[in-house]
Amino acid sequence: MTIGFLGAGKMAEGILAAIDDKGAVVMAEKVAERRAELARAYGVDMTDDVAAVARRASLIFLAVRPQDVDAVAAAVKPLLTARQTLVSIVAGKTLAKLKAAFGAKVNLIRVMPNLALRANAGMCAITASAKTPAAKIKAVEKILGGAGATVVLKEKDFDAVTALSGSGPAYFAYMEEAMVEGGVRLGLKPDVARLLAEQTMFGTAKFLRESGMALRPFIEGVCTKGGTTAAGMAELDVPAFKQIVAATLAAAARRSRELA
Ligand SMILES: NC(=O)c1ccc[n+]([C@@H]2O[C@H](COP(=O)([O-])OP(=O)(O)OC[C@H]3O[C@@H](n4cnc5c(N)ncnc54)[C@H](OP(=O)(O)O)[C@@H]3O)[C@@H](O)[C@H]2O)c1
Repeated sequence: MTIGFLGAGKMAEGILAAIDDKGAVVMAEKVAERRAELARAYGVDMTDDVAAVARRASLIFLAVRPQDVDAVAAAVKPLLTARQTLVSIVAGKTLAKLKAAFGAKVNLIRVMPNLALRANAGMCAITASAKTPAAKIKAVEKILGGAGATVVLKEKDFDAVTALSGSGPAYFAYMEEAMVEGGVRLGLKPDVARLLAEQTMFGTAKFLRESGMALRPFIEGVCTKGGTTAAGMAELDVPAFKQIVAATLAAAARRSRELA
């Protein structure tokens, strides 16, 4: 199976890195230096012609920015067949919009990734058009599973996914920034505070994932009565905090609906 990419930017590279057989990949990219960079780093076949990818690949990742989708679609739509699958990672492009742009013949899969894909720890939500065979969805799950976690959902959940895992890296980084600033106020050097905050965020997520422990018992377990964490939580655990987080996600989901 030849795997194609339309656009070879940051997100495409994150997916490419997780593909075992780089010899089976062909990527179309406008920027000549980028083509040279990826050919050198991964030994992949690069072209400047999206039509060449549409002719050769059976599974094709659409990884250009939203404003470039129409130009790519105009070039490849006449070439796509029912044997091919187009996997779009473009934010806000619904399956209905993809069908209008790329035609009714090609199988369609829509993915909402996040930027942690670039660190091989992404979160990808996957949805597909009704006619897309389950085997094609499985193949995409396998590829993206090499670059992090995957979940197959109904498209109606995609605004919520966009708000939570799509935009989530910025929210967690903002929390980290607040922790670093708090550490600096207590006298730590910024780089030390950043290491402490980041490793704690990373380690907590890793422990929770590996243990599968429920969140409330975990929090209560760390909060020994009369201890330091309990003193901190007494400040943090006020209704306003969760209200702000809920409003943050609701605003992002609303914007996702407006952009779709
Ligand atoms: N970054 C994220 O966290 C994130 C999260 C979720 C979804 N996404 C989605 O992922 C997609 C890719 O994002 P990205 O950050 O990887 O973008 P990016 O780094 O800008 O990559 C897109 C690449 O495609 C190239 N390109 C554009 N039109 C082309 C054409 N006709 N033929 C060949 N190459 C073409 C661009 O070249 P030029 O620069 O010359 O245009 C650019 O190098 C976006 O649609 C975005 O919505 C991103």
